[in-house]
Amino acid sequence: MTQAVTKRAHWGSKIGFILAAAGSAVGLGAIWKFPYVAGKSGGGAFLLVYLACLFTVGVVMLIAEMLIGRLAKRSITTAYRELAGKWWPWAGRMSVLCVFLILGFYCVVGGWTLEYIVASIDGSIITTDKAVLAKQFAAFSGDVTTVLIATAVFLMLTAGIVIAGVQSGIERICKILMPTLFILMLLLISQSLFLPGAMQGVSYFFTPDWSKVTITTVLDALGLAVFSLSVGAGLMVAYGSYLESGTKVVSAGMWIASLAAFASVLAGLMILPAVFAFGVNPAAGPSLTFITMPMLFAQMPFGQVLALVFFALLFFAALTSSISILEPVVAFLIDEYQLPRRRATLIAASTNYVLLGIPAALSFGEFSGAISLWGKTPFDVMDYLASNILMPIGGMLCAIFVGWVIWHNVQVRLEQELSTIAIKTYWLIAAIASPILIGAVALLTILG
Ligand code: ALA
Repeated sequence: MTQAVTKRAHWGSKIGFILAAAGSAVGLGAIWKFPYVAGKSGGGAFLLVYLACLFTVGVVMLIAEMLIGRLAKRSITTAYRELAGKWWPWAGRMSVLCVFLILGFYCVVGGWTLEYIVASIDGSIITTDKAVLAKQFAAFSGDVTTVLIATAVFLMLTAGIVIAGVQSGIERICKILMPTLFILMLLLISQSLFLPGAMQGVSYFFTPDWSKVTITTVLDALGLAVFSLSVGAGLMVAYGSYLESGTKVVSAGMWIASLAAFASVLAGLMILPAVFAFGVNPAAGPSLTFITMPMLFAQMPFGQVLALVFFALLFFAALTSSISILEPVVAFLIDEYQLPRRRATLIAASTNYVLLGIPAALSFGEFSGAISLWGKTPFDVMDYLASNILMPIGGMLCAIFVGWVIWHNVQVRLEQELSTIAIKTYWLIAAIASPILIGAVALLTILG
């Protein structure tokens, strides 16, 4: 135990940490899900509600998780035990289970992005025929051998980076991939903005249509903001545990939330103008990414190159998030069982693949009906359990933990960074608003 304390890994720099945490935040949530949810939920109005959620509950929870990690220098289960004891480690174990489930389905989508990179290079998805693209998507997600290999390759890449360590693996790769990701997004935006009719998409995205905003939209935006900032499952506790004690978490949290917000706005600007220019439905769902986008690229100059750029950036976004999803499981094994990093990563990744990755990957195509739980495929069960039940419960417990259980300790740290009034506002959001609102999101999804 003492040995583990002295050997705790740490970030090389604050900017390295911010890019790693932003890499965790900017993932499939911001790029894959945000544009189509905004598309169906009132464009600009949804954007404003989403930004409000990001910069209230989202950022407060983010700071809370970073503080827990920084205080205990441990991942969530051990941190809960050391800071509060009693039954709190069970809340930590639940969060580890949650990230383990997320990793199971996340790597499948990560694998698809790899398949689409290959398909962009060989040109097979560069067609305007929607039926052909739908068939391709079914083939890519349904062909057993291909999908199992693609999922395994994506998971192995993730594990390789995690094995390399906090500074030499996670931080180093995020310092390269995050700036690249933003440059690629700007490149695609510069193309889509000049398409004839593109401005209609821009004005749709920035003009709020409040008639489409209901209480469900607000809760949808909150759920997406929480998922997108990677809070509620202890990811940021693990990343926060590698911070030096003096690192300012409030400014780091604001930077991370701002980068996540910026990425969502860029994702909207990248996808919605093109969608409007070619007159397709912006609310087309997840198939927006894998069917609609290739169709649009096929009609654009240099379409094949743009398709490659798009799927490469989706892959980078998924990879920098998946390492942050694997890391808390690895940190749990290191902190709780004193395993070396390499062994912990290999155990976590291989068990995840066998227990969850394979069933999730086989949820599409010929085996899709083979295993069904509550009428859902394994992929959907993992997504539902993790995103709709465990993550909100974990988020609620974390907010209660910070706002009530260790508040005095937290207050002392916040005094070094915030004014008295800001600390009071922080407490109101953490201790009162967050548990209620996150609980409402969970309840609504479970009932709905
Ligand atoms: N924050 C990660 C994402 O949005 C989990 O994909």
